[in-house]
Amino acid sequence: MTTPIQIADIANYDGQEVLVRGWVYDRTDKGRLQFIKLRDGSGVAQCVAFKKEMSPEAFEIAGSLTQESSVQVTGTVRKDDRAPGHPGGYEIGVQSIELIQMADEYPITPKEHGTEFLMDNRHLWVRSSRQWAILRIRATIINAMRNWLDDHGYLLVDTPIITPAAGEETTTLFGIDYFGEPAYLAQTGQLYNEANMAAFGKVYCFGPTFRAEKSKTRRHLMEFWMLEPEMAFFSLEDLMDMEEQFVSHVIQRVLEKHPLELEIIERDTSKLENALPPFPRISYDDAVARLQKLAAETDDPEQKELLQIEWGSDFGSPHETAIAEMFDRPVFVYHYPTAVKAFYMQPVDGRPEVCLSVDLLAPEGYGEITGGSERIYDGDLLEQRVAQIGLPREAYAWYLDLRRFGSVPHAGFGIGLERTVAWICGLSHIRETIPYARMLNRKYP
Ligand code: 4AD
Ligand code: MG
Repeated sequence: MTTPIQIADIANYDGQEVLVRGWVYDRTDKGRLQFIKLRDGSGVAQCVAFKKEMSPEAFEIAGSLTQESSVQVTGTVRKDDRAPGHPGGYEIGVQSIELIQMADEYPITPKEHGTEFLMDNRHLWVRSSRQWAILRIRATIINAMRNWLDDHGYLLVDTPIITPAAGEETTTLFGIDYFGEPAYLAQTGQLYNEANMAAFGKVYCFGPTFRAEKSKTRRHLMEFWMLEPEMAFFSLEDLMDMEEQFVSHVIQRVLEKHPLELEIIERDTSKLENALPPFPRISYDDAVARLQKLAAETDDPEQKELLQIEWGSDFGSPHETAIAEMFDRPVFVYHYPTAVKAFYMQPVDGRPEVCLSVDLLAPEGYGEITGGSERIYDGDLLEQRVAQIGLPREAYAWYLDLRRFGSVPHAGFGIGLERTVAWICGLSHIRETIPYARMLNRKYP
């Protein structure tokens, strides 16, 4: 009897007759020999169809297969170090082949295509090795994040996507019509996390979040996935201690689990291996001083212009990149100006113009991957902030309640999944980090 196998496990079947079902990734015609690269989702294996070893009908099918046709192949696995594929090193000597569907002319060929074309064909592009590798790494990143939290006493508590009020900047809200009432797609799960934190101590949420950011950058999506932990009795230091353990765990898991995928995408992993705790920690003040010094010292006028910064402004991506380049691993920047951060951040004692916030900047120009803070836990101060920012109090009444019933110091952060994938995979643009990107000019397919 023939065993159906996953190509990922091909090494376990040396010398055995197997059944593989999948899609033709590529085919090379050598007359009496057909080399078929077969893709089954778990990997790619070279299937060698030799005229002498097959029925004429089966060999004819083999020789007519178009790219992405679906087939079922029976054959014998044999070790061959030169055999291409993922994982490679084994090939299948074909005995029989059955056609499931002969594919129409496939739009994505091994030749170069423009990115817009590939994005228009994203539903097919996800089959390509590079995209396959990236999306497998993405799945492991999610798994590693969740496992670390589950193993460290955090509880997954889901937060709603349809919300009555803004969680972050009101300028980036996606509004919806909720039976005649306005509502918004969640920008963050944080406010609900804070309620859940008081019920479970250490919680996290993980889900899609939405920002109507009218910017076309290689770091912004309209719909992105964010994982947000929230912890009772955590200080800013506790938060940084936890984040560096968490982030380095994720990197280590990807390095262990995905040598093949990292090789497919040609990632220089030496850059990731270094991402071990402790991560350097610098204050916003220090970061501004370093940027100003760098701007003063550079001979490049364009760079000088880009690095200009006054105390009080938020960092743009050139600033974040320059700060990150000063270190050999991710760097924490803490105590940002209160004015550039969200309304819920706790001001620093005796220096309310800065707040107990921290961003983690990734190396290699990937910028901010996490943003977090201690939260205001004094009810009066939070009331004042809500009023000052001009938020409608009714919509935040439940959130303000949390400060009336056992309010405690607490902190949390959000990590952007796609920015993390972009960094770990070394991608120049965020659009390839998510199966179906939603961007300013794209909601298809
Ligand atoms: O810094 P942000 O806006 O923080 C929050 O939303 C907090 N409520 C999180 C918390 O404390 N619980 O977003 C957090 C992270 C950013 O560091 C970035 O990685 C990612 O979310 N992010 C985006 N990723 C892709 N596209 C966008 N438009 C993003 N906006 C934020
Ligand atoms: Mg932020």
